[in-house]
Amino acid sequence: MAPAAAHRTASVDGAVPEADTAVYEAVFNAAVAADERIEPRDWMPDAYRSTLVRQIAQHAHSEIIGMQPEANWISRAPSLRRKAILMAKVQDEAGHGLYLYSAVETLGVSREELLDKLHTGRQKYSSIFNYPTLTWADVGAIGWLVDGAAITNQVPLCRCSYGPYARAMVRVCKEESFHQRQGYELLLALSQGTPEQHAMAQDAVDRWWWPSLMMFGPPDDESAHSAQSMAWKIKRHSNDELRQRFIDICVPQAKSLNLTLPDPDLRWNEERGHYDFGPIDWAEFREVIKGNGPCNEQRISQRRKAHDEGAWVREAAAAYAAKHNGATGAAVEPSADTADMNGKA
Ligand SMILES: [Fe+2]
Ligand SMILES: [Fe+2]
Repeated sequence: MAPAAAHRTASVDGAVPEADTAVYEAVFNAAVAADERIEPRDWMPDAYRSTLVRQIAQHAHSEIIGMQPEANWISRAPSLRRKAILMAKVQDEAGHGLYLYSAVETLGVSREELLDKLHTGRQKYSSIFNYPTLTWADVGAIGWLVDGAAITNQVPLCRCSYGPYARAMVRVCKEESFHQRQGYELLLALSQGTPEQHAMAQDAVDRWWWPSLMMFGPPDDESAHSAQSMAWKIKRHSNDELRQRFIDICVPQAKSLNLTLPDPDLRWNEERGHYDFGPIDWAEFREVIKGNGPCNEQRISQRRKAHDEGAWVREAAAAYAAKHNGATGAAVEPSADTADMNGKA
C-alpha cells in the first residue's frame, strides 16, 4: 500500500498515534486538494468534523422544521391535485431530513443527540422557517423562492469534500427542483387568475423575497465560517456570490410571472453583468436568528410536541430491532423486505 493510502484511513477505533498526526493531516490536505472525497472512516481534523456536524445538522433541522409552514396548508389546499402535490412535497422534506441525519451519524453523533440539541436551542435551523404562511399563495412563494434559494445553495454541495453529504445532496437537489417548479406553477396560476388572486400572489412574493435573500447567510466579510469551509471544499462559493446568482435567476422569472420583486433598487448593471439590489435588513436577520422571529417559539414547541407524540413509534421500532437482532443485540443481515427498502435487493 502506498504511504498516502495507508494514512488515509484511521484504525478501526479511530485512534491515530499522536506522532503520526502531521502525516495524516498532510494526506488529508492532499486528498482535499486533489478533489477526492473524504469518507467516514478516513482520518480528518477535529475542526473539519465539527464544522460538518454543525452544518449538516443545521441543514437536517431546517428540512424537518421546514415541513411546518407548508403542512399548515395541506388541509386547506384548493383542489385535490394541489393537496396531493403539497403532501408529496412536505413528505420529500421529511426524507431530506432523514438522509441528512444519516449523513451526520456517519460523523459519530447520534440522531437522539442532534434532536435534543435542536429542541433545546443548541443547534439552529434556517431562519426562513420562522416566518408565517398567511395565505395559500405563500405555498407558491415558498416553492419558488425558498426552495429556489435552497437549490442555489445546494447544487455546489453535490461536490462537497465529505462523501456522504455530497451524495445526499444529489437526490435532494433533484427533489428541490420539483419543489421549485411546483411553486412557480402555483404562483403563475394565481397571477393569471382573478385580480384578487394576482394580488394574493404579489403579497406573498413581497413578504418572502427579502427573507429568501437572507437564506444565503451574512455578507462575506461578516461570515465567521466561510473562508475555512471554502478551503476545506465543504463550500464552493461564498454567500454573496450565491445570493447574486439567485437574484440574477429570479428577476427574469418574476417578469414571466407578471409579479414584481419588492426592491426599487433592482436594476441590471451592464458593467458587472449582474443585477444591483438594495440593502438587506441584517438587523431583522439577527433578531430572527436570536429567536425573536414571528414563529420561532411556535416552530420549536410544535417540533417538541411531534417528538413526544412519536415516542411510541421509536419504542416500537427499537423493540422490533431488538427482537430481530436477538438477545445479544448483534448486527444481523437485513431481511429480504428491509433489503428491498434499501434498494439493495
Ligand atoms: Fe428539502
Ligand atoms: Fe424543498
